[in-house]
Amino acid sequence: MTDTQIVADWYNRNAALEHDRLNNCRLEFSISLKAIHQCVELLGEQRPLRILDVGGGTGRYVELARRGHSVTLTDISESELNLAKSLATEFGVTLEAIVTADARSIQVGSKEDNPQSIFITSAYDLILCQGPMYHLLEESERLHVLCACASMLRPGGILAVAFVTRYAHLRDIAQREPARLAEEFDSFYREYLSSGKYTRNPTMTSHHTSAEGIRGLFRKVDGQLRTRENVGLALTRILACEGFLGGGLAGRLGDLSPGSYERWVDVVMQFAEDEGLLGNADHLLAIAERK
Ligand SMILES: C[S@@+](CC[C@H](N)C(=O)[O-])C[C@H]1O[C@@H](n2cnc3c(N)ncnc32)[C@H](O)[C@@H]1O
Repeated sequence: MTDTQIVADWYNRNAALEHDRLNNCRLEFSISLKAIHQCVELLGEQRPLRILDVGGGTGRYVELARRGHSVTLTDISESELNLAKSLATEFGVTLEAIVTADARSIQVGSKEDNPQSIFITSAYDLILCQGPMYHLLEESERLHVLCACASMLRPGGILAVAFVTRYAHLRDIAQREPARLAEEFDSFYREYLSSGKYTRNPTMTSHHTSAEGIRGLFRKVDGQLRTRENVGLALTRILACEGFLGGGLAGRLGDLSPGSYERWVDVVMQFAEDEGLLGNADHLLAIAERK
């Protein structure tokens, strides 16, 4: 089992730093936001959507509330949620609710059974889950969170889920500390490459995967949902959030003028679903539809 207290403590200690770091990872955010806007369009932007952001952190997607949608935020880190509250105030928007919770403990029920809960069956048009998957070590934990998210979607609703790739970590050490792979192959990397469990850092636990790992996970979620609840979850897209510019190659784009930057975003987005690029990205965004 993941010790999620380690994860909560890390984000509580580093909330402000994390907010700035995420703002600096502009390409990942720009591509994810574009994909999410496409989901909103598919769902019909004519009416305000009910959106739940699980692992919503410091509230980067509060942006959706600015566009008139009803946004509910939940995260394991109270300090990050406090920052999200300030951000919402700064933007002049009201969030539907902000709830501190470990995604693993989500129990979905009907509104009648628990009127105060935000974890309601078939309540949401769109659910974002961009955080828990790359911190939960056990597949059973990841399956629980995705099944819970699917149960909270209305039929036809969309789930957007973020993952981190194993290649991202390997690229990182190749650049910063290339001797480490051989030095720690027997003691750590052999197991890491097969399980994706990154437990080497005592102050943070992470899980890294691949496009194939994501497809396998969604097949299991769909199977469990069909057996237990007679509903399904179909994986429709996987996007490479940094496209062909993973491993820090997009670093200089942040210095560009808005017009020049947006041209890059459009080109990266054009090829974001190229199968050959899915291993090139550090973050993958999976889009699935509740059946
Ligand atoms: C890198 S941040 C991303 C935040 C936000 N989704 C975004 O894209 O800007 C990862 C987030 O996942 C949250 N998280 C990790 N494990 C979680 C869990 N078990 N339950 C709820 N939130 C979790 C963290 O607290 C953190 O806010």
